[in-house]
Parts: sequence; structure tokens; C-alpha cells
Amino acid sequence: MNPDDFDFISQFFKSRSGLVLTRDKAYLLESRLMPVARKKGMKTLDELIAAIRLGRDQALLGEVTEAMTINESFFFRDIKPFDLFRDHVLPRLIESRAAKKSIRVWCAACSSGQEPYSLAMVLREQGARLAGWRTEIVGTDISGEMVAKAKAGLYSQFEVQRGLPIQMLVKYFKKEGDLWQIDAALRAMVRYREFNLLDDMRGLGSFDVVYCRNVLIYFDNQTKGKVLKNVRGLMPDDGVLFLGGAETVLGISDDFKPIPNLRGLYAPASAENTAAALGTRFAQSAGS
Ligand SMILES: C[S@@+](CC[C@H](N)C(=O)[O-])C[C@H]1O[C@@H](n2cnc3c(N)ncnc32)[C@H](O)[C@@H]1O
Repeated sequence: MNPDDFDFISQFFKSRSGLVLTRDKAYLLESRLMPVARKKGMKTLDELIAAIRLGRDQALLGEVTEAMTINESFFFRDIKPFDLFRDHVLPRLIESRAAKKSIRVWCAACSSGQEPYSLAMVLREQGARLAGWRTEIVGTDISGEMVAKAKAGLYSQFEVQRGLPIQMLVKYFKKEGDLWQIDAALRAMVRYREFNLLDDMRGLGSFDVVYCRNVLIYFDNQTKGKVLKNVRGLMPDDGVLFLGGAETVLGISDDFKPIPNLRGLYAPASAENTAAALGTRFAQSAGS
């Protein structure tokens, strides 16, 4: 690919989805975009890039954007973010939201649904503790294909073998032909929709907990900072943010600060109490 086309296409992805495409990842263009080109009856990547440059076919622009997304996900990914939610974040919310009896969680790049459904299972396992509560999980992703898969809640044998404890598989999934489907009550706990993190978030409402995991790694620091600022805007002062294991706010955003001892968990920087309270809760439980 000539340097001019590469610069154009990398700028295109950065402005469409935040994706930063470095030269060493140029091979991805061929492997991921050629299927789109062929589907449209085009024979070369050059032809496809010319059509993208024209910018007339909005559906095509959406398809190429989606084709470049990395949708890797699995149930209870990295386990800690779900243990921290169950053992520290949720007990604190149950206390602080006792009057309102409502908790809202956002999985901001939910891919095919394993992350929101893992949280739905954690909530269901609380049993009577959350009786009478309104718990809502919102799962969003830029990829319409992933959102459709998440809504269907259908997973292959391989997918349910990645991270999902066997007791959870038996309890919450039913075999549907070669696939496994998560039960209807859990599906009903998650509201899915397509959403681009670069867009205006304010229509999504307010969230007590946000999982924005393994997506910011694809963005540059400026885009990460903007997304984090907007996420902060949707959160009460005692809200919390989970990032992926390879992600941080340090040097990127002044809107959040890490919670001491709770790796991957962040509190609004302006809220003095949240980080301290959760950090102390953790230190106490670790010491007890
Ligand atoms: C690697 S997956 C992470 C899924 C899940 N959060 C996890 O940690 O397992 C990254 C997801 O981010 C989505 N994504 C990429 N850019 C996005 C954007 N600008 N807005 C919303 N989602 C985006 C991709 O479609 C993909 O499904």
C-alpha cells in the first residue's frame, strides 16, 4: 500500500472508531478488509480504499470500521474485576443505594456479551440480598454484529470453556444444537445497543459502575483522555470504573485515580471518599 493510502486509511479509522493503526499492523488491513472488498465485488484493497475515499456509501464505511475491530472476549475475563465487583463494589453499593434500591452498570465495549453476562451471573448469585432491587446492565459496542451475537446469548463449546466455571454453565446455559444459550432471565438483565465511545454519551444516563475494558488500548492518549472524561460525566462521585489489565489512567486522565490495593479499579479523582473507602474496605477484609 502506498504511504498516502496508508495515511488516509489510518486517519479514517482514528476518526471513525479511535483505532490507531501503526505501520506494523498494516498487514491487518489486507486480512480484514479484503473479505469486505470481495463481498462488494471488488478485487483489490486499492479499489476498496478508493471507495472509502469517495465516502458515499455509509454502509460500506460502517462495515470496514467494524471489520477492523478486535472482538476477543471471554467469560469472567481476568476474574479479578468480577471478584472485586462482588466482594467490594457491590456490598458498598448495597449500603449506599439502600433507599433507592437501584444499581446501573455499563459495559462500554461489551463485544459478544461475555462481560455483561458474567456480571449478570454475579448479580444473580446474590440471591435474596438483591430482592426488590432494580439492577440494570447496559452493554454497548461499536460492532452491530457483536451486539446481535450478545443479544442472542449463543456461544460455542470453545467459548463456554473459556473462563466460565462448569457450575455456572450447568446452572445458566442450555444446549441449543451445537451451541449453548444463556438463560432468558439473564438475557433480560442486559440491555444491548450499538454505541461508539467517540460519540456523545450523555443520552445513556448515569452509571454506578462502568466496565471499559480492553478497548482503550487501541486508542491514542488524547482519545483515551476524552473518553474517560465523558465516562466520568456519567458517574456519581461514588461511582467506579474498571479498566483492562494493560490499561491505566496514569498520565492520561485527571478525571480518575487508581483505588489503592484494588488493581484495575478507579474512582473519580474529584471524589475524595470513594477511593479511600473502597481501599479501606479492601485492606480490612484482607486483614480479617
Ligand atoms: C477486545 S474487545 C473487549 C471486550 C470486553 N470488554 C472484554 O474485556 O473482554 C474490544 C471491543 O471494543 C469494541 N470497540 C472498538 N472501538 C470501539 C468504539 N469506538 N466504541 C465502542 N466500542 C468499540 C470492539 O468492537 C470490541 O468488541
